[in-house]
Amino acid sequence: MNHSINRRDWLRNSALLATGLSAGLSQWNPSLSAAARQEQAFVNEFARLGEDLPVLRARLFANENPHGISPKAREALIKAIDVGNRYAFREGAMLREMIAGKEGIKPENILLCAGSSELLMTAALFFTGRGGKILTSRPTYDDLLDCASAFKAEIVSVPQTKEHRYDLNAMKAKLASTEGIKLVYICNPNNPTGTILPPDELTAFCKEVSQTVPVFVDEAYIDFLAPADRPNLAKLVTEGYNVILARTFSKIHGFAGLRLGYGMAPAKLVKEISAYNRGEYEISVTTITAGMASYNDQDWQNFCRTENAKAREVLYKGLQQLGYEYVPSYTNFVLFPIRMKTKTFENQMFRNGVGTQTRDFDNQPWCRVSIGTVDEMNIFLDAFKKVTS
Ligand SMILES: Cc1ncc(COP(=O)(O)O)c(C=O)c1O
Repeated sequence: MNHSINRRDWLRNSALLATGLSAGLSQWNPSLSAAARQEQAFVNEFARLGEDLPVLRARLFANENPHGISPKAREALIKAIDVGNRYAFREGAMLREMIAGKEGIKPENILLCAGSSELLMTAALFFTGRGGKILTSRPTYDDLLDCASAFKAEIVSVPQTKEHRYDLNAMKAKLASTEGIKLVYICNPNNPTGTILPPDELTAFCKEVSQTVPVFVDEAYIDFLAPADRPNLAKLVTEGYNVILARTFSKIHGFAGLRLGYGMAPAKLVKEISAYNRGEYEISVTTITAGMASYNDQDWQNFCRTENAKAREVLYKGLQQLGYEYVPSYTNFVLFPIRMKTKTFENQMFRNGVGTQTRDFDNQPWCRVSIGTVDEMNIFLDAFKKVTS
């Protein structure tokens, strides 16, 4: 079987072009997300080695939904092509109404965006564009923080607990002892650890801290949670607390390439942030229309959640059999310590057709692997055995 293709074909196959990258990009670009940088790193590494890129048999580095979009969303997407000549004013308003109805908030509490990355960037600009500090706890999702750093903001971070959770008490103490904090960033469930904060603790933290500093909660993976684990922070928005919630359609809805996300915040804040952002006018009518269909398709969301849990179990079992520990995850990715240098592991896995992400922290190399289909997790485990034996 031919496991190698030329770079151009690979770019096309892996949908790299959809992220707006090209193989010619050789420099690290801080405005790219970690996943996009990862893809770029694979391309650069193989170009440097003068090797053809391997066929990617399991794309497990970007926490995408391996099942695709809901059949109802697909149908809506295709139909909406017929109104592709019109701006999506009406559809944008309809989607905001829909989200508001479900969350118990008002449409003016919602800011639609072309993926939540856009909101992360806008928030970094809005809160720290003129300098200041952001408080967080690392390791976490660095996009907003990297963006703020590019504006010369300072990132103040406290270590996480031994369970790999945000340490909310340490954050409160840091906030009390540090001048100039303009925003608190929390990712819940957290990427890359896959852990969550107890809903009551997070809610109490947001209530207390947002009296002093706005709290931004990135809820990209919230749709994977069971109801009991899901905090209702939208309620705080209606109560006027200074919290900003970021959601995305990229995960449970499978819209990573279609680009749809939204923020929820008090109406005044939505209005102020909107001055830095084109909001729903950046999103295509096809994506918004498909988004509405997907939002209402509970069956598809349940299916994706169930399949994710199934494939995650396959991974857990495989890792246990190989004697590896992992951080129990509430998401569609799992973090676990590896016994090889990160780049060596990543490249060897990639050579075996599996894309993963790795990181060093706490003086330890870690792999973060996305949950694909059951078949893809088996491909991952086969490659993992080969690479680590
Ligand atoms: C925690 C977190 N927030 C935000 C995003 C950005 O997602 P998108 O821009 O596709 O909505 C991601 C993507 O992986 C993520 O992991």
